[in-house]
Amino acid sequence: MKDLQFNRHRRLRNSDNMRSLVRETYLHKEDFIYPIFVVEGENIRNEVPSMPGVFHLSLDLLNAEMAEVTELGIKSVIVFGVPKEKDEVGTQAYHEHGIVQQAITQIKVHFPELVVIADTCLCQYTSHGHCGIVEEGKILNDPTLDLLARTAVSQARAGADIIAPSNMMDGFVAAIRAGLDENGFEDVPIMSYAVKYSSAFYGPFRDAAHSSPQFGDRKTYQMDPANRQEALREAESDMLEGADFLIVKPALAYLDIIRDVKNNFNVPVVAYNVSGEYSMIKAAAMNGWINEREVVMEKLIGMKRAGVDLIITYYAKDVARWLDEK
Ligand code: PBG
Repeated sequence: MKDLQFNRHRRLRNSDNMRSLVRETYLHKEDFIYPIFVVEGENIRNEVPSMPGVFHLSLDLLNAEMAEVTELGIKSVIVFGVPKEKDEVGTQAYHEHGIVQQAITQIKVHFPELVVIADTCLCQYTSHGHCGIVEEGKILNDPTLDLLARTAVSQARAGADIIAPSNMMDGFVAAIRAGLDENGFEDVPIMSYAVKYSSAFYGPFRDAAHSSPQFGDRKTYQMDPANRQEALREAESDMLEGADFLIVKPALAYLDIIRDVKNNFNVPVVAYNVSGEYSMIKAAAMNGWINEREVVMEKLIGMKRAGVDLIITYYAKDVARWLDEK
């Protein structure tokens, strides 16, 4: 045995304190953005069947939820609206008193410090469930841009701190930036869902947001999961158009893409840990098959290690509690 040559990596794993000295990645409460679903009506707190622990909330119950979020030390929420009325052109997305606009204003009045992000898309608001205007079965790019800009401006007017367009039309960052600037919102940043794959992991969200496409799929605007270079093209366009943050979505099956984006661009990178990723872990945990807390912390640290600065996750409240317990 004497002349064997090898390195002793285990020296640095000898004790808790030794391991913490050499730890490379950490999770902080500041890393997390909590998604919320707001609905019209009163006294509504309905659990989304495919997302245990995630609720539809009416505005009268929203303050209690936001109080909990802020007390836990979470700094930011992203707001999704689930309107009662839908039409061909998604009118409720840019209505002055739409459910999202009301929710944003209410949160900013009662929790002015909380950073409120508005998801800017049409699919929850259109009768056909697509993210753009539809004509003869086609999703039209350029006519959709005006509506997205209108939506963003109405959200900024309601008080949104960040606009997060998720529709994947070409030019949406340029159109929204121009719209915001023309209306005096040059200080409102854009967190672009720059790299958004056409993913089966959005299934539970579409239950939650009632936003499944009524015909076809989203493959003509969301990206093919097989593509890596295309992610860099998408991110590059959004940077040129003025994005302040870049989102990669989903997260778990796309950690390589997160690293690519981090290595190539110098804005904060955000991972969207999407609904299907949440529900898979929830379901396994509810069956007692995995240790929920450890699995969640491990996958989130994996995203940080891959290079993200921020993570949008339905687990944000749990993680904040777990970080306190440590
Ligand atoms: C809207 C939107 C989607 C998600 C966020 N914004 C769904 C979709 O593109 O169908 C998915 C989020 C999740 O799955 O948690 N365009």
